[in-house]
Formats: sequence, C-alpha cells, structure tokens
Amino acid sequence: MFISISTFTIANDTEESVKEAFRNRPHMVDDAPGFLKLEVLSPQDNPKEIWLKTYWQDEESFKTWYKSHQYHDAHKGIPKETKLVPGSVRVRYFSLVGE
Ligand code: HEM
Repeated sequence: MFISISTFTIANDTEESVKEAFRNRPHMVDDAPGFLKLEVLSPQDNPKEIWLKTYWQDEESFKTWYKSHQYHDAHKGIPKETKLVPGSVRVRYFSLVGE
C-alpha cells in the first residue's frame, strides 16, 4: 500500500466550486492500474485548504498515473477562476503503518 497526500490552498473565494468539482470528479483515475481509492478532505479550521489522499497498490502505480496524460485530463474540471496560494501545493508520500 502506498498513499500520496496532496495539499493546496485556494487563494480566492472559489473553494465551493473546487469542492463541487471534486464531488463530480471524472472518475478516470478509478481505472488507472494500481489505484485503490481516494478521499478529499478539507480542514474545519481552514475551508480553503484541500487535502487529497490517494491510495495505491504501490508507488510505481502512482508515479505512472501522475506522469501520464490521465493526470491532465483528470483536472479539466478545475474552475477557471480558481487561484492557489503561491507555494501552497505540496505532495508527500506515505506508508501505511497500521489501521
Ligand atoms: C498536487 C498533486 C495533485 C494530485 C496528485 C491530484 C490528484 C487528483 C485526482 C486523483 C483526482 C481525481 C480524478 C478523477 O476522478 O479521475 C483529482 C481531481 C481534481 N483535482 Fe487534483 N490533484 C493534485 C493537485 C490539484 C490542484 C493543485 C488542484 C487545484 C485546484 C486540483 C483540483 C482538482 C479538482 C477540482 C478535481 C476534480 C476533478 C476535475 O477537476 O476534473 N488538484 N486530482
């Protein structure tokens, strides 16, 4: 099991549209080899932050998807007017320790 957590912060007042786009996400990643599931979270103390957790069979599967055209196609629904806080995009990799 490999987990990637991407975090970013929306700079303007478009967070509701971004969340709506996640609710209506294209589900293309669901067919990517090694993809298991994803969860989109937003902290209650800052609704402009998005924490996106994706679960994969292994790191290679994630990297292949991340580099592929599927990544770009998967982001067509980002609202055009959305702006991010510069430098707020971060991707970190995790191992599952227990559950
Ligand atoms: C930094 C690394 C990122 C990763 C690994 C990532 C990953 C993903 C994945 C797996 C999906 C689901 C696609 C599907 O359903 O097929 C998705 C959708 C989405 N992502 Fe990201 N994302 C990242 C950054 C961002 C950033 C910076 C934004 C900025 C607003 C963003 C906005 C969205 C939105 C709005 C969707 C909903 C689907 C759509 O727009 O078509 N993501 N992302």
